[in-house]
Amino acid sequence: MDTLLIASIALMGVVGAVSYPDCQAVAPHQKTLNDVRTANISAPASPFGLIFSKQSDRAFVALNTTLGVLDTSSLKPKLMHQIPVPAEYLDPSGVKAISLTHDGRYVIASTYIGAVIVNVEKAVVGSSDAFAGALVGTAGNSSMQVTITADDKYAIVSQEYGISDGIGALEVFKLHEPTGYGSGNVTSTYVGALFLGRAVLGTALSSDGRTLYATSELAVTDTQIGANGSARGNLSVIDVETLKTDPSKALLHNVPAGCDPVRVSVAPDSSVWVTARQSNHLLAYDAKKLLSQPEKALIASVQVGTAPVGLIFVSSKHGSRILTADSNRFDQLTTTGISVVDWRAALRGKPAGLGKIPTGLFPREFAISPDGRTVLVADFDSSQVQAIDVDSLP
Ligand SMILES: *[C@@H]1O[C@H](CO)[C@@H](O)[C@H](O)[C@H]1NC(C)=O
Ligand SMILES: *[C@@H]1O[C@H](CO)[C@@H](O)[C@H](O)[C@H]1NC(C)=O
Ligand SMILES: *[C@@H]1O[C@H](CO)[C@@H](O)[C@H](O)[C@H]1NC(C)=O
Ligand SMILES: *[C@@H]1O[C@H](CO)[C@@H](O)[C@H](O)[C@H]1NC(C)=O
Ligand SMILES: *[C@@H]1O[C@H](CO)[C@@H](O)[C@H](O)[C@H]1NC(C)=O
Ligand SMILES: *[C@@H]1O[C@H](CO)[C@@H](O)[C@H](O)[C@H]1NC(C)=O
Repeated sequence: MDTLLIASIALMGVVGAVSYPDCQAVAPHQKTLNDVRTANISAPASPFGLIFSKQSDRAFVALNTTLGVLDTSSLKPKLMHQIPVPAEYLDPSGVKAISLTHDGRYVIASTYIGAVIVNVEKAVVGSSDAFAGALVGTAGNSSMQVTITADDKYAIVSQEYGISDGIGALEVFKLHEPTGYGSGNVTSTYVGALFLGRAVLGTALSSDGRTLYATSELAVTDTQIGANGSARGNLSVIDVETLKTDPSKALLHNVPAGCDPVRVSVAPDSSVWVTARQSNHLLAYDAKKLLSQPEKALIASVQVGTAPVGLIFVSSKHGSRILTADSNRFDQLTTTGISVVDWRAALRGKPAGLGKIPTGLFPREFAISPDGRTVLVADFDSSQVQAIDVDSLP
């Protein structure tokens, strides 16, 4: 290959020649990273969401009917106790994703009806009155992710299927502490909802907190959720200030987000990353272009393992990485594990996949400790919580 050709191929990776991966793309075999330090514990139920408290030695895990409190002072976590979630907020699919308010005082966990709020200070000591409130709206009973605005005054809950025809939504709640700061409980006012596509799942705030990103797995015209390999979802770009007052008017743009996009996360450089589960790829978008030139916002597409769901940014001593939880949740018997990707290399159009870390079955969601040294992953189908030592990543 001559130098000119190599140069123009390299340039293509940078100047917007990025194309969407095929929905039927198969995840290839990946190199196994046997030198990554991991430890795991079995959980009393299938773990789903995870979040650290403001202290790196305490974390929370969704355990179907309870919120487990983990001691994470050493790599191998210990389950200290479980905070029961009142049955009136639960269905058999249990507690799902968990978020922490920016002030670290409450965790908000999605359950089918909306979300439950737990007081962190009380939960870490195992107090029986740690339950602090609930968020119940009118846009559905299939909540998945909770995003809390930067000022801790609003919570946004994704409702995967909405109220009819599978059209999902984002519900917006204003949060109040009824008897003032420190009372230990939270009440809420339901502001309203923004209806998007089918299977509305992942949400994330932009680095400046002014834009919300949300994924919808399938187009409104697709009726077979998850069963149709050609289905294409969207990344919705939403104005946070409008969402706080008039949710139904807050949508700025819908941008194509490949095949079954399920989670979204924002990189330290503000770029926006989506797991396109059906095509086994990560897609990256430029944050400024998502606002001004959405049709040109796609800046990278990276192969990972089978059916990626969760994604998280880490900084190891070897550089900036993104991890994907390659769930293989539809048992295609190809790859399961955690892909390790050099996301800065991907943005330069360079090879970026570094291999995979072995996991249990159906790795689903991640959390990272405030000190950045430990990542937890929930292996849903093998009822394990696994910890990864970030410094041992390649
Ligand atoms: C969660 O608990 C309910 C009972 O409360 C049970 O029916 C269901 O199978 C459990 N789900 C999982 C995933 O363990
Ligand atoms: C959620 O389920 C409860 C209990 O079945 C029902 O009363 C309520 O109307 C449902 N809410 C929505 C928005 O569908
Ligand atoms: C918080 O809410 C719980 C359950 O509704 C209630 O039992 C408790 O008294 C409340 N605590 C305060 C300080 O308001
Ligand atoms: C994606 O957005 C386009 C344009 O707004 C819309 O026609 C399509 O139905 C949307 N698909 C999803 C998955 O929401
Ligand atoms: C996917 O679903 C759409 C709408 O339901 C349908 O038109 C299309 O033929 C389906 N494609 C495949 C490959 O099944
Ligand atoms: C979980 O830990 C056990 C030892 O406690 C180990 O044998 C097993 O390989 C670990 N599983 C994973 C997926 O790392």
